[in-house]
Amino acid sequence: MMPKLKIAPSILAADLTRLGEEIAAVEAAGADMIHVDVMDGHYVPNLSFGPMVVEALRRVTKLPLDVHLMISNADQFLKPFADAGADTLTVHLEACTHIHRTLHAIRELGIQAGLALNPGTPVDLASEIIADIDLLLLLCVNPGFGGQQFIERSIQRIQRARSMLDMYNPQADIEVDGGIDQAIAERVVMAGANILVAGTAIFGVEGGPAAAVRQLRKAAQGN
Ligand code: DX5
Ligand code: ZN
Repeated sequence: MMPKLKIAPSILAADLTRLGEEIAAVEAAGADMIHVDVMDGHYVPNLSFGPMVVEALRRVTKLPLDVHLMISNADQFLKPFADAGADTLTVHLEACTHIHRTLHAIRELGIQAGLALNPGTPVDLASEIIADIDLLLLLCVNPGFGGQQFIERSIQRIQRARSMLDMYNPQADIEVDGGIDQAIAERVVMAGANILVAGTAIFGVEGGPAAAVRQLRKAAQGN
C-alpha cells in the first residue's frame, strides 16, 4: 500500500519577483505542498532561502511547507525553521553527524522528519533509522541547482527504498527530487515514489505553472 501521490513544486525555479502569485497558481492547480530548498554555500555550492522566506510563504499559503535543508549545521536551524512555519524538515544523512538525534529533534518540535540521501549514498545506510522518519527524500541529481538531468540509476534506488519501507515503515513517503518532469513521472511512481518535487518542470515551462502541475499529476498517474 503506497501513500498518496503528491505534487510538490520547488520554488527554486519560481519567478521570485512574483513569488506570491506563483504559489497561488500552483495551489489553485492542486499542488499538495510547497518545496523549499535551503542551501548554505557550504554543504552545497549555492545559496538560497532562510527562515524569513519560509515565514513569508506561511502567510500566503495553507499548503504544507516542505523544507529541504541542504546545510552543514542543520541542528542549529531546526527550531528557526519550525517557528517560521515549516511542516516538514528534511535533513541529509551525509550532513548530520548524529542523524538519529537530529531526526528525533525534528519530531520533538511537533513537525514531520524527513531524511535525504544523495545519489551516491547507498539506500541501505538509512536502515537503522528508517522506522523513525516520516519521509525519505531521494535526490535524483546532485543537490545544489535546479534544471539538472535525472540520474537513471535513481529508479533502482527508489525500488530498494520502497521495499525497505514496506517492511519497516509502510506509511512513510518517498519523495523524489531533481530532474523530475512529465517524461519520468510515471516511472518514478511505478518504482515506489509518491511525492514528486519539480522546479523547472513546473515554473520553467510555457503555459505556466498551473497547467504544469495538472500535467505532471496526470503523467504520474500514467495518463
Ligand atoms: C536540487 C534541489 C531541488 C531542485 C529541483 O538541489 O533539491 O529541489 O529545486 O529542481 P528541478 O526540478 O529543476 O530539477
Ligand atoms: Zn529539494
